[in-house]
Amino acid sequence: MIVSPSLLAANFGHIAREIEMINESEADWLHLDIMDGVFVPNISFGFSVLEAVAKRTQKPLDVHLMIVQPEKYIARLAKLEVSIVNVHYEACPHLNKVIQMIHDAGMKAAVTLNPATPVCMLEDIIQDVDMVLLMTVNPGFGGQKFIEHSIDKVKVLRQLIERTGSKALIQVDGGVNAETAPRLAEAGVDVLVAGSYIFDNRYPKARIKELKALS
Ligand code: DX5
Ligand code: ZN
Repeated sequence: MIVSPSLLAANFGHIAREIEMINESEADWLHLDIMDGVFVPNISFGFSVLEAVAKRTQKPLDVHLMIVQPEKYIARLAKLEVSIVNVHYEACPHLNKVIQMIHDAGMKAAVTLNPATPVCMLEDIIQDVDMVLLMTVNPGFGGQKFIEHSIDKVKVLRQLIERTGSKALIQVDGGVNAETAPRLAEAGVDVLVAGSYIFDNRYPKARIKELKALS
């Protein structure tokens, strides 16, 4: 399993220490949640924090843009050597163009679906993306309850990927914990994002190791 801890749940008073913990852990990537207070009803952090994190981390950056007009920031993300850019389907009327822009800037491109957006909307873009992120809670906040229907959605996405021969990975985000993670793995997920399950614990590295062991 690929594991991408979400920094949103970290202690921002000790952010350097938290990044050091991730560096020492078995985590594969570092998931960074950018919110604008428009696309989602919350504001997280922006480029100054992103720059500071990029300098310290040894893990590839997996950036989840919960913002309108994400295309405005692609060049700046590329400068920070971000590896993967996740844009929301619901925020991109010209999704094909945005995916092309991310690729042209030398980064991997992922499309994210909100819980109420069906997998069939990806039919004409699945061949062009490196990853699909299925939101398993409504985006905007950490620590929410997992939406059960997501398990079926992962299975439908797995079928679409197999039918089309797409190379896209399946990532899930929200409510990932000891109870939901094994079921998500079983349904066909490749990448687990986890925030509170990892950081709201005295032994975060052990939690990362536990998620990594799932196949
Ligand atoms: C929520 C963010 C998530 C969040 C997940 O909108 O996209 O990445 O940090 O938090 P947990 O794992 O606590 O549900
Ligand atoms: Zn996220």
